[in-house]
Amino acid sequence: MSNHKEFLTIRPHEHFWVEVYHFMNSVVQPRPIAWISTVSETGDFNLSPFSYFNICSMNPPIISNAIFYNRDGSEKDTLRNIKATGKYIVGTVSFENANKANISSAPFDRDVDEFSEANVSFSDRGTGEPRLITDSPVNLLCDLNQTVELGEGAGVGTLVLGNVREIMLSKEMSNVDWKKGLSPEIMNNVGRMGADYYTKTTDLFQLGRPDKKK
Ligand SMILES: Cc1cc2nc3c(=O)[nH]c(=O)nc-3n(C[C@H](O)[C@H](O)[C@H](O)COP(=O)(O)O)c2cc1C
Repeated sequence: MSNHKEFLTIRPHEHFWVEVYHFMNSVVQPRPIAWISTVSETGDFNLSPFSYFNICSMNPPIISNAIFYNRDGSEKDTLRNIKATGKYIVGTVSFENANKANISSAPFDRDVDEFSEANVSFSDRGTGEPRLITDSPVNLLCDLNQTVELGEGAGVGTLVLGNVREIMLSKEMSNVDWKKGLSPEIMNNVGRMGADYYTKTTDLFQLGRPDKKK
């Protein structure tokens, strides 16, 4: 299907936000998944997946996540912890960990440890420090740069920008030259689609960048 002749106009403000939310999730896809590890001021560890995730600057590297308020209007534990401590760790989600990432998204109480609920391996980094996600081959250690509050209540997101202070790359990948980038086969990441769909990243094709316009 290409060269579409007729379009339906959808005005988000004329609909209940949840309908638009489902539609938007099916349009903006596939989305990468950040598995975010945080710790509260009182030492409770937290792990949850977030797919409104991207790179927004590179020199220095800054990443973005949009974290929504819960449907009851309360703040998600991840956002609360990031605001309280100013630090978090983002792990990648490969195909073999897709199910664990999904389990870790359940609305557990604040003091429940999702690492243990979803059987995710980790390494402790000391008191007050978020855990390293050792099921993820790459961990991005982030310092909060800023939050951009877009409102408050169900369906509203807070944009979280984080400076990538350190990157932990599994030594199982020590045969690769990280400066050339990691191959998609090695990462084997999954992407989030609409509804309950995910996608693998195994059906690849290449396109070279076009030359400068003459
Ligand atoms: C694959 C996946 C991606 C998700 N992406 C987001 C997201 O980008 N933003 C968000 O607010 N919630 C997202 N969620 C929902 C959160 O993971 C979920 O609300 C979780 O319970 C939050 O946990 P917390 O309260 O411990 O932070 C996602 C869930 C899944 C399964």
